[in-house]
Amino acid sequence: MRQTIIAGNWKMHNDRAAAKELVSGLQDVLAQVGDNREVILCPPYTDLETATTLISKLAHVSVYAQNMFYEEKGAFTGEIAPSMLRELGVKGSIIGHSERRGYFGETNLDTNKKIKTALGHKLRPILCVGENEDQRVNGVMKPWIQMQILEGLQGLSGEDVASIVIAYEPLWAIGTGRTATVEQAQEVCQYIRQVLADAYSKEIADKTPILYGGSVKAANAKDILQQADIDGVLVGGASLKVDEFSQIIKA
Ligand code: 13P
Repeated sequence: MRQTIIAGNWKMHNDRAAAKELVSGLQDVLAQVGDNREVILCPPYTDLETATTLISKLAHVSVYAQNMFYEEKGAFTGEIAPSMLRELGVKGSIIGHSERRGYFGETNLDTNKKIKTALGHKLRPILCVGENEDQRVNGVMKPWIQMQILEGLQGLSGEDVASIVIAYEPLWAIGTGRTATVEQAQEVCQYIRQVLADAYSKEIADKTPILYGGSVKAANAKDILQQADIDGVLVGGASLKVDEFSQIIKA
């Protein structure tokens, strides 16, 4: 049985006061998260400690970073080391979000190094993959996603792969209000599982949680979560609102 994961990526939103207000507002719902479910909050670095402190007594809730660097320490101005995250009680990190790839030039090789470093520090990576609209229209979506996965996971053991999370986030659905249809989301998540089965084994593929992200909201979360190969959601904008995110968690 794969875990159901509801993750909220706050992106570059919420100062400390807003972070406190949001996590405090979610407390009751977070306290009721049941077994085999996990809620993950991904605040900006400056809110990590606020968030880990506020959720410290909750059994099925964790705080992840939105990014991390692959080196342990050194002259890397502006970067954050995995041990610095661990020290704050952070349990994992989003890796290779499309905004990191698009605005900051992150490559599949970068995601691969970050995943390896994260696992070495017992941080669980959420590897993000997804196509842009042109790639979908021109029929190169699947090879693109396959390459993001195989290059991102290169050199990892099957056991490592089963311990990470993969998030399918089509670029055209992020922040646009244009959610993929449940059929589109399921099709690609099933394809990702097939890529894992071919590269590793069916057993590894069956163990690895795969999330969908892109304009997930309270109104569509339930349908998305019912798909056979979708084990959870990675939510952007709707994770900033207590009401919306509470309903998604309950879905
Ligand atoms: P939205 O839910 O705002 O479309 O963002 C999705 C996302 O990028 C989550 O990582």
